[in-house]
Amino acid sequence: MFPKRRMRRLRENAILREMVAETKLTLDDFVCPLFVIEGKKRKEKIKAMPGIFRYTDDLVVDEIKKLKDLGIKAFLFFGIPKKKDEKASQAYASDGVVQRCIKKIRDNLGDNILLITDVCLCEYTSTGHCGIIRDGKIVNDETLELLSETALSHVKAGTDMVAPSDMMDGRVKAIRERLDSEGFNYVPIMSYSVKYASAFYGPFRDAAKSSPRFGDRKSHQMDYSNSREAIRVIAEDIEEGADIVMVKPALPSLDIISETRRRFNLPIAAYQVSGEYSMIKAASKMGYVDEKSIIIESLTSIKRAGADIIISYFAEEIARFMKR
Ligand code: PBG
Repeated sequence: MFPKRRMRRLRENAILREMVAETKLTLDDFVCPLFVIEGKKRKEKIKAMPGIFRYTDDLVVDEIKKLKDLGIKAFLFFGIPKKKDEKASQAYASDGVVQRCIKKIRDNLGDNILLITDVCLCEYTSTGHCGIIRDGKIVNDETLELLSETALSHVKAGTDMVAPSDMMDGRVKAIRERLDSEGFNYVPIMSYSVKYASAFYGPFRDAAKSSPRFGDRKSHQMDYSNSREAIRVIAEDIEEGADIVMVKPALPSLDIISETRRRFNLPIAAYQVSGEYSMIKAASKMGYVDEKSIIIESLTSIKRAGADIIISYFAEEIARFMKR
């Protein structure tokens, strides 16, 4: 007997195919990362990330206006300070690069956008490490104080959500307690819960000038060989008070995104990181792959795996594809 079920029946007609498509990207899914620097009227190219720039606060306002007109509503900020020191002072200075930028955006663009700030010290320490160093090691608990201080200063400046990416133990709890003690009980925390020690962050470190001066990040970021540990880390972050958990890099971690979706009921964010972006850009430029198709396919796969929120440097491209 010939098969009764012919899977191709629903694949033939393009309209029907669209109708039964299980996963659809919308601009509501996207967060656009932005790099901000000190000074005025400067827009710097990032060599390892063609098409991505660092902006001073005046120009970032214009950039956000443009992106907002395209339909992008959420932004994730990384600050690159002029002065770096061992205590990462500029990370929690009330007039630090991110704090000033957030204030400026709020003053100019109002509340109808979602501002998220990355909380980590690596862009602010002279060592390029994510915390305070003693005897060549990152001291966890002292670092928590500075991270909490940083998160609080972002919130005071007007950010809507903080996103700790440092991978210190206990940071979600420390930040939650600090924000609550200052009356910011309703500011959510999106934790970079499963952040693998990944070579895919290479171009970002060029963008954020945050390469470690010695050693690497393997003492705190996760070993990409591990998936059971990922589930333990997520459970711990939820216990500590994370409102959204993040997995990164995205495409190499689809198994983790999908397992997290099966096991937990809170929103999941996935970060399509700099290396994922730059590989697609480079291969497209060489003519080896079709850029538009590969962007849409990779992002759809991330959503299909279970991500509710996608942080991607392709946010603007996606918005433009959707307009057409
Ligand atoms: C740390 C941070 C990093 C990324 C996001 N937050 C870099 C790192 O851990 O070295 C990577 C993002 C990307 O590669 O796009 N502040």
